[in-house]
Amino acid sequence: MRIDKYLANMNVGSRKEVHVLIKKGIVTVNGDVVKTPKQQVKESDEVLVDGQEVNYQKYHYFLMNKPKGVLSATEDRSQRTVISLLKPQDQYQGITPVGRLDKDTTGLLLLTNDGQLNHELLAPNKHVDKIYRAKIAGVADDETVKTFASGMTLGDGTKLKPAELKILVQDEEHDSSEIEIKIREGKYHQIKRMFGAVGMKVVELERISMGKLKLPKDLKRGNYIELSLDDVSKIK
Ligand code: URA
Repeated sequence: MRIDKYLANMNVGSRKEVHVLIKKGIVTVNGDVVKTPKQQVKESDEVLVDGQEVNYQKYHYFLMNKPKGVLSATEDRSQRTVISLLKPQDQYQGITPVGRLDKDTTGLLLLTNDGQLNHELLAPNKHVDKIYRAKIAGVADDETVKTFASGMTLGDGTKLKPAELKILVQDEEHDSSEIEIKIREGKYHQIKRMFGAVGMKVVELERISMGKLKLPKDLKRGNYIELSLDDVSKIK
């Protein structure tokens, strides 16, 4: 590929900015100063900009602790999206959230420019388990556990796969519960609609895992980490 594309893909700068760096004579490939933006490079070449090595990595995977109030989308006319929480140098072309969390849901959200992985994880037959913690208005009990385990049908006829509900706190006095729920699908507002169908309301919702990937306890809301390919293979 062309050196200007290589550097732009690695977010060294826009194509225009990269052309300026090349003109300045501070870009080298395998020790030779690059003279033209058209020069071809391979991913295995040693590319330096101002003495700093720029390794080629095609795909990036970020694990974010999504805060409330931001959309799981790449762009929106009026509202902030999760992409805006990435540092400018991490806003690679094509980077997208893998699936969606509601605006008021927090927790584990993957972002990647690897379209293939994104597609694979969202495919209905892939069955990636997702675990959520929630605060509920209403007292969840064994009946609720059974209803969710049986694979319920929502009011609009949507048939759901069995879901595993664990009750962590049952508070009769305040008519509330804290629960953990494992689902395999990711239907629109799925957990809120499941609780709605049994006369309860989700007050707080946080995703804590996706496949074998867990939300790190020390990752603050709004922060993110880059995952290695090895981490990513755990989700598949
Ligand atoms: N279920 C919901 O209702 N909302 C989410 O954000 C995720 C799962």
